[in-house]
Amino acid sequence: MRAHRRHHRTTPRTGRLLGSLLLVAAACAMATGAAPVHRANATPMDRVIPAPASVDPGGAPYRITPGTRIRVDGSREVRGVGDYLAGVLRPSTGYRLPVTTEGHGGIRLRLAKGSYGDEGYRLDSGASGVTITARKAAGLFHGVQTLRQLLPAAVEKDSVQPGPWLVAGGTVEDTPRYGWRAAMLDVSRHFFTVDEVKQYIDRVALYKYNKLHLHLSDDQGWRIAVDSWPRLATYGGSTEVGGGPGGYYTKDDYKEILRYAASRHLEVVPEIDMPGHTNAALASYAELNCDGVAPPLYTGTQVGFSSLCVGKEVTYDFVDDVVRELAALTPGRYLHIGGDEAHSTPHEDFAAFMKRVQPIVAKYGKTVVGWHQLASAEPAEGALVQYWGLDRTSDAEKAQVAEAARNGTGLILSPADRTYLDMKYTKDTPLGLSWAGYVEVQRSYDWDPAAYLPGAPASAVRGVEAPLWTETLSDPEQLEFMAFPRLPGVAELGWSPASTHDWDTYKVRLAAQAPRWEAMGIDYYRSPQVPWT
Ligand code: ACM
Repeated sequence: MRAHRRHHRTTPRTGRLLGSLLLVAAACAMATGAAPVHRANATPMDRVIPAPASVDPGGAPYRITPGTRIRVDGSREVRGVGDYLAGVLRPSTGYRLPVTTEGHGGIRLRLAKGSYGDEGYRLDSGASGVTITARKAAGLFHGVQTLRQLLPAAVEKDSVQPGPWLVAGGTVEDTPRYGWRAAMLDVSRHFFTVDEVKQYIDRVALYKYNKLHLHLSDDQGWRIAVDSWPRLATYGGSTEVGGGPGGYYTKDDYKEILRYAASRHLEVVPEIDMPGHTNAALASYAELNCDGVAPPLYTGTQVGFSSLCVGKEVTYDFVDDVVRELAALTPGRYLHIGGDEAHSTPHEDFAAFMKRVQPIVAKYGKTVVGWHQLASAEPAEGALVQYWGLDRTSDAEKAQVAEAARNGTGLILSPADRTYLDMKYTKDTPLGLSWAGYVEVQRSYDWDPAAYLPGAPASAVRGVEAPLWTETLSDPEQLEFMAFPRLPGVAELGWSPASTHDWDTYKVRLAAQAPRWEAMGIDYYRSPQVPWT
């Protein structure tokens, strides 16, 4: 759907060539029988990101061999995780790795009652095999991500590598701190194709994220087909920042994203941003404007200039239709209604708008999520607000969000000066924005969600989110350069027990991830804060 593709490479790839030469050397050593299998070859269990709740290393490692089977029970869901694991392991090992209900030993994925919760798992590794046990398939999937990290980085390559494929002996018992561990992708400022979104899904799944928040509409583009208002997509989606061709997802495209996300155990949270950030809709339908005149399409990067017409009845017909169609498509529980930066909407209008719109979301069976400005109106019962403030946000604004949290509104934390992946790392970062300051890797990681917002009870915090806004980002490599290495840190804040939080040990684990990213072809920022080896 997108015609143009700028290939902007921010870092050289000479390291990959060197890596290839070393692998050739290793392969030669193997061929001459000079590469004995030492336990030291296995990645230690305490290297995993996000840090598991509990790690008990010891005993002999398991070695994946040409005869290894991936054993599953008969259920479709478990087989799906087995097939996914096989898809990771086959290209680099070159082994058949049948996914089967037969045999014994090997890599076993099993569901069992136990105290692993909806997403937790237990991984047992020893000489005769690796067993991942969980109550639900999502737990098995997260356990598989841990297993990947216990294997050598070369397992992530898409061509046959020499191995050996050792998994350290021991036991991991793991369950997440928070149920909301989201990555947000802004597909409005620049459009990203279904395949590009799938690639980002694969990246975030590595670190046990469980939600993909899609920012589907903004001033610069409407990206989801709505049958009852077709010009939203066909006209409102016809450009993007900088004037490129934009694009939109047909309903089938969107279903394909949902299917793929579900296969990676991610719930999609669609966002239609309202009442501000709506120029693409206002440009598509003149009647949505208070003066009845459609503005031109917008391809710049200003914010806060557009608003739906709060006093017009057609506005609520529009919202009802959009929410109805989007809710019908989306199996997830949540629908995000935006609400940020409505600078062109008087406050009473904003509150009146939210009072009418939130029940529409409930009518179609979804739970409201809004940016934290929703706290300045009246959040519906059960609603969640997403805090995106920063250190300099006023005490009054913070207090308003904290008060909503004390009154039962759930909090998602995505402080812009911590988790916004589009913020420049330093003044020299060639991509990104800096309105929230520079966000180096340590700053991004080193805070505690439970104690972050003064006056908000820890029990109100549902989790964390890493938004990736795309005013300056137009291709997948640029997304990766901004996401890595910050994306894993936010994942750890959402998953790992607070007791494991420690920058000095985290940065060493983070450095150990780099060979995996290189094997996957992920471009990343070589932060001087991290002891890359
Ligand atoms: C936002 O960054 N405007 C939510």
